[in-house]
Amino acid sequence: MAQKIQIFDTTLRDGEQVPGCQLRTEEKAIIARELELLGVDVIEAGFPISSPGDFLSVVEISKAVTEPVVCALTRSKKEDIDVAAEALHHAKRGRIHTGIGSSDVHIKHKFRSSREQVLEQGVWATKYAKAKGYEVEFYAEDAGRADLVFLAQLVEAVIAAGADVVNIPDTTGYCLPHLYAKRIQYLVENVKNIDKAIISVHCHNDLGLATANTIAGLANGARQAEVTINGIGERAGNTSLEEVAMILKTHKDLDLYTNIKSERIYELSLLVSSMMRMPVQANKAIVGKNAFAHSSGIHQDGFLKHAENYEIINPADVGVPSSSIVLTARSGRAALKHRAEILGHRVEGEELNALYENFLVLADEKKEVTDADLIVLVASMPVLTR
Ligand code: KIV
Ligand code: ZN
Repeated sequence: MAQKIQIFDTTLRDGEQVPGCQLRTEEKAIIARELELLGVDVIEAGFPISSPGDFLSVVEISKAVTEPVVCALTRSKKEDIDVAAEALHHAKRGRIHTGIGSSDVHIKHKFRSSREQVLEQGVWATKYAKAKGYEVEFYAEDAGRADLVFLAQLVEAVIAAGADVVNIPDTTGYCLPHLYAKRIQYLVENVKNIDKAIISVHCHNDLGLATANTIAGLANGARQAEVTINGIGERAGNTSLEEVAMILKTHKDLDLYTNIKSERIYELSLLVSSMMRMPVQANKAIVGKNAFAHSSGIHQDGFLKHAENYEIINPADVGVPSSSIVLTARSGRAALKHRAEILGHRVEGEELNALYENFLVLADEKKEVTDADLIVLVASMPVLTR
């Protein structure tokens, strides 16, 4: 039977850490309500101790949504956990996301500590957070580069201390998919109490592998994916929600599903991009301007004969109004004929040949021939306007 993957959205925490993307509390509450409508399971609302604004955002998001769990980030510190617990007071279901660095590079050069001390601190923080009465998720920061045997010991210890979810972040985006998969598989096979917690994957995109690593983790036993809308996040970003949701929907063979209402994806992508003043790259999978645009003659002809020749996703499934045929110097007669027909001009045979010749001259001058250009072109050919 297909297994459910929890979608943990961190657009408003990891995503919002991006310079220039900061949002006001009211804007965060609007996005949180849209995330709820989209069907996410967990919303990471902020890092309450980091600023009064973040504290307020966690409070307001807790009031604004009903279904999703509201999550607040902390370090493994008493004051962080106290403040997060207070900020989550209004949440119907709250979660404290606490943790500590797990790789030797973080242990040595960030905490100037030892593996033993880090493990002790993580266990202490988990117990302290659990005693506040919320769900607890523990993150082993930089788990992608951690010693695997130590990582397994840490995970086992925090589960024994009460962690409901264990997050295995590839904080620096270092891992290759087959190696990240092996990490998750190792934890599944070697952590005695792993059945008492959900494994979560949180991948960064420094090498462009965030989504691939996330899917590799899910295919090997992780049951929660940490993602952001449009893949925004620190440095090169986080795994994008829309990619994970549509991969699981497209590849039924993985036998995994989410509760994401995919038809709402595009609108939320536009909202986040506009509120955060963060344009989406044109070739971004699923939500980029060109994701459903066909511009070369061979593709346009094949697409017009049968959309599935060149589209594996129906644009309506992600809320994109329609596919588009972009007229360029690489376009063929089929695309030109199609576009002219949409504009109300049926052209065949010699008329089409003549129009196509004029079109190519114009297309060589301009990068893209727009509908307005085409109307002018048709009007300049008297035989077609009869
Ligand atoms: O990338 C990371 O390790 C994080 C943790 C704080 C979960 O964002
Ligand atoms: Zn992160």
